[in-house]
Amino acid sequence: MAILSPSILSCDYMNMQRDFAHCKEVGCKWLHVDIMDGHFVPNLSFGYSLVKAMRPVTDLVLDVHLMIDTPIKYAEEFCKAGADYLTIHVEADTEENIHKTLDLIRSLGVKPGVVVKPKTPAEAVLPFLDKCDLVLVMTVEPGFGGQKFMADMMPKLKKLREYINEKNPSCHLEVDGGVDMVTGEICKENGADVLVAGSAYFKAEDKVAFLKSIEK
Ligand code: DX5
Ligand code: ZN
Repeated sequence: MAILSPSILSCDYMNMQRDFAHCKEVGCKWLHVDIMDGHFVPNLSFGYSLVKAMRPVTDLVLDVHLMIDTPIKYAEEFCKAGADYLTIHVEADTEENIHKTLDLIRSLGVKPGVVVKPKTPAEAVLPFLDKCDLVLVMTVEPGFGGQKFMADMMPKLKKLREYINEKNPSCHLEVDGGVDMVTGEICKENGADVLVAGSAYFKAEDKVAFLKSIEK
């Protein structure tokens, strides 16, 4: 049983509220919100104002993925805006500041997590694992939707499942990038329990079937 977190990067921006309501109707429980700063990743997306605007119109779990440098500068704004989970990249600041940011997020009543880019090893999560409610493994280079799933991330995912089971079993293990019904199955086999899907979910003709295939 896994959770689907549809990435709103692929929704219809002129009809966002309609799309969020439709996700709820389909039976989704989470929404994934990608925040990009044009520095940490070569693309721009949304800011905390969008999270703030979403909060009163949806009761789905807001899974906010910060692809920004020095997230300590903005974490508080995203927490206040209404994120439920707030994940930061381990590559985005010093180890000391990542610790401080995770503590800050927790102190504001939001669930903290860390993200690793494809070239970052599983071990990079270890210093932070006891502070996390979510660990996110990128299965594409962060920055854009619609990229090809990197199956070679599966050994890392499996290793992180083992670390989580051993050290912090209630922590979620999420994958993000190129997830569809086929690659989603592979991610679950390797230990993921939350699957982000952007283009595959929003393009799916039968979204209920898509959700069921992820949840089964
Ligand atoms: C990419 C983002 C993803 C993106 C996934 O940097 O973090 O969340 O929306 O899109 P798909 O599912 O199309 O690969
Ligand atoms: Zn994402």
